[in-house]
Amino acid sequence: MEPASSLKHTKHIFRVSFLLGFVLIVMILSRGLFVPKSWGQYGWYRGDAVPEHRAKPVVHGGDQSCRECHEDQYDLREEGAHVGVRCEGCHEPVGSHVINGEMTAPMFIPASFELCTGCHRRLAARPDDFSQVNPQQHLEDNEMDLTDTVCTECHDPHSPF
Ligand code: HEC
Ligand code: HEC
Ligand code: HEC
Ligand code: HEC
Repeated sequence: MEPASSLKHTKHIFRVSFLLGFVLIVMILSRGLFVPKSWGQYGWYRGDAVPEHRAKPVVHGGDQSCRECHEDQYDLREEGAHVGVRCEGCHEPVGSHVINGEMTAPMFIPASFELCTGCHRRLAARPDDFSQVNPQQHLEDNEMDLTDTVCTECHDPHSPF
């Protein structure tokens, strides 16, 4: 009896479709505006990020970067208990010492006992099977006084055993 009522519903559908269409257009326009030009050049990231990162100076180089010039220390470490401890874990990053294959600044030598006890001081939180000492006790047992470089007087840092 009331054909007008179905027309009323059509109006609702029209409004909703109009609104969705409007949102879609805004999305497409803002995508063009905000997505960087190089997006997707190589993959699901900004292509320009590659040259940007490449232009940054090298900080860490890994053990192989030291090996080129310090083969003796590298080979020594291969033979001892510190084979798993990285050069840059004790020394500074290669970038503070060498740039483009040329030495630019001397490298700090961390001979202080604080370096060793930082990893080897006995702590309840450390796993039992990791080598630890109570520094005072260890020096007493070995009849040595505490000095800044006392640990390296008996242990070679590159091959402690
Ligand atoms: C391009 C060659 C080169 C590279 C790579 C290099 N070094 Fe050196 N390093 C030198 C030169 C040259 C010296 C100064 C001469 C010397 O004492 O042997 C030096 C000195 C040092 C010294 C001080 C030696 C002293 O008696 O004063 C340390 C420690 C050192 N380098 C550690 C490292 C570590 C660790 C790395 C890797 C992160 C590294 N070097 C990478 C060339 C290099
Ligand atoms: C456990 C810490 C530690 C690690 C790992 C380590 N070093 Fe050292 N390094 C030292 C200490 C401490 C000295 C100072 C030694 C001294 O004064 O008797 C030193 C000295 C040096 C020196 C100066 C010359 C010498 O032998 O005294 C060079 C070069 C060097 N290290 C390079 C390296 C390279 C290359 C690596 C990686 C293969 C490396 N180090 C790994 C602690 C470390
Ligand atoms: C970055 C952490 C780290 C630093 C710093 C460090 N060590 Fe070590 N050390 C290790 C690891 C890892 C091992 C091998 C695992 C183990 O022995 O439990 C090791 C092994 C040793 C061992 C052999 C223990 C054994 O029972 O065979 C001695 C001795 C030793 N270190 C002495 C030193 C001395 C001396 C210094 C300071 C020059 C030093 N370490 C600095 C991590 C470190
Ligand atoms: C007078 C020499 C001497 C000095 C100095 C010395 N050590 Fe030792 N260290 C030894 C001897 C010998 C051993 C092996 C026997 C033992 O465990 O006491 C050893 C063993 C160790 C071990 C292995 C312990 C284990 O149970 O696995 C660590 C780690 C260590 N020393 C770290 C250090 C640190 C850190 C210093 C500096 C605070 C240091 N040592 C100073 C002689 C020395």
